[in-house]
Amino acid sequence: MTSKKKPEELRSFAWFGPDTLRGFSHRSRMLQLGFQREDFIGKPVIAIINTWSEINPCHAHLRERAEAVKRGVWQAGGFPVEVPAITITETYMKPSPMLYRNLLAMDAEEAIRSLPVDAAVLMGGCDKTTPALLMGAISANVPAIYLPAGPMLRGNWDGKILGSGTDVWKYWADRCAGVVSDEEWKGVEIGIARSAGFCMTMGTASTMTALSEALGMTLPGASSIPAADSNHVRLAMDTGRRAVEMAWEELKPTDVLTPASLRNAITVDMAIGGSTNAIIHLVALAHRLGFDLPLTRFDEISAHVPVLANIRPSGEYLMEDFFYAGGLRALMAEIRDLLDLDCLTVNGKTIGENIEGAVVLNHNVIRERSNPLMETGGTVILFGSLAPDGAVIKSVAADRRLWQHTGPAVVFHGFDDMEARVSRDDLVVDENSVLVLQNAGPLGAPGMPEWGLLPIPKKILARGIRDMVRISDSRMSGTAYGTCVLHVAPESYLGGPLALVQDGDLITLDIPSRKLDLLVSEEELAKRRAEWKRPEEKDKRGYLALYKEHVSQANEGCDFDFLKPVTPSAAKI
Ligand code: FES
Repeated sequence: MTSKKKPEELRSFAWFGPDTLRGFSHRSRMLQLGFQREDFIGKPVIAIINTWSEINPCHAHLRERAEAVKRGVWQAGGFPVEVPAITITETYMKPSPMLYRNLLAMDAEEAIRSLPVDAAVLMGGCDKTTPALLMGAISANVPAIYLPAGPMLRGNWDGKILGSGTDVWKYWADRCAGVVSDEEWKGVEIGIARSAGFCMTMGTASTMTALSEALGMTLPGASSIPAADSNHVRLAMDTGRRAVEMAWEELKPTDVLTPASLRNAITVDMAIGGSTNAIIHLVALAHRLGFDLPLTRFDEISAHVPVLANIRPSGEYLMEDFFYAGGLRALMAEIRDLLDLDCLTVNGKTIGENIEGAVVLNHNVIRERSNPLMETGGTVILFGSLAPDGAVIKSVAADRRLWQHTGPAVVFHGFDDMEARVSRDDLVVDENSVLVLQNAGPLGAPGMPEWGLLPIPKKILARGIRDMVRISDSRMSGTAYGTCVLHVAPESYLGGPLALVQDGDLITLDIPSRKLDLLVSEEELAKRRAEWKRPEEKDKRGYLALYKEHVSQANEGCDFDFLKPVTPSAAKI
């Protein structure tokens, strides 16, 4: 360890060191907690920002893991303090946990900034918690290291392996089509989530934790270790130890997170066939750093990166298999020529040093370069008259027969309208129709819920059809699959072209040409625009009012305008 600081130069020393009335107060209150002066004066104070909650099953083990982090902090000569932060639980928060990503980011930032903290261990994993904690840490810019909660074990029912989300959609469609019984459905329910940890498909949680490692914000290999594995306990302890060293070295998020590390994260996102949600979160992270990250950059990078992770929903396996196959270090070693290996990481070494010696142990799970799941373009960005500011589709999870498709729109004006009508016998729809959902974006829903996997109408399911083109300004679970165009910007609530679509309008999706067009004349659209009225504002108070006043559109990362850095950097990614 290189000690760059003297104890009196520690940030926490400003609280605990001075012989002043305030210093007296700070020391006496720590003594009130039963600690000795030598425990905390002149020692790195490590905040363990813990998003544990009984209502968050993905983080069920984080209380125990915080104890392991503390063990590491004490061993390394630091002083650990556990600081609870709000939890964002994907399953339970309505209408959308995405509403609260920025709130957790503010919570983390203000906890780190306002308390006597020399470094922070960030503990999360369930979807939005990873970007939120990283965004908060960037803005606080005090040394910080991320500890991913780890994926849960493989699901199991009746001898079949089940993946979070992915197999729910699959068996639900089968149940709606009448080929799965109530008893079988109950078996899926009890078997699909059988340990602590986050969703073990390549959903948003596994994607964002992998990207936190690719960004250099975790210890090497951290993102792939299952939550229930004893390696995860040792990881927690090592993370605590390393946080103490980082405090002495003053290794800050802005030393680690650079345009090159963001490019590495986008490259890895494409190679793992990551969740579409990662695009919004990476843009938000880039903007917190003051970097410019247009959506087109994702497409440019995606054009050179093969999809190698054979993980559901795009592939066959689950995160537990990915760990046994060598994990993210092995995958990154496989694409080392596409990465900037000189990027610094939180362990003080470069990405190149961290992946040294990593090998793929199972090429069915992590494909070879010569045999990718998809040559390039796992996630693509679409532009066109229906999405002037962009839209996103996970092409690797879409039915190839629909990659170039023109069909008539069937429009739902909101989620309730869709629920009420989508499976009615009198809905005018066939397998060539394009299902369109309006008012499901950052402002319209609000919170851009994961409604983008519009259900296939029952009468279409009954014909054995399992995919259709679906378009919305909402998001989709990273565990889901299908030809779903998402994040359409500007959103319909703001009067974007999506708001003007009517039943029967022809829409063209062309993934190879990156196009999404509404085939309606400009004259007709101008007429509809003049008649369009914004839906009545319902959220007039509290956090929702604050959110609606300040949130940006999907292509801008959905962050609050007042959380951007005061001085943006000129750096481009
Ligand atoms: Fe927490 Fe899926 S519900 S990651």
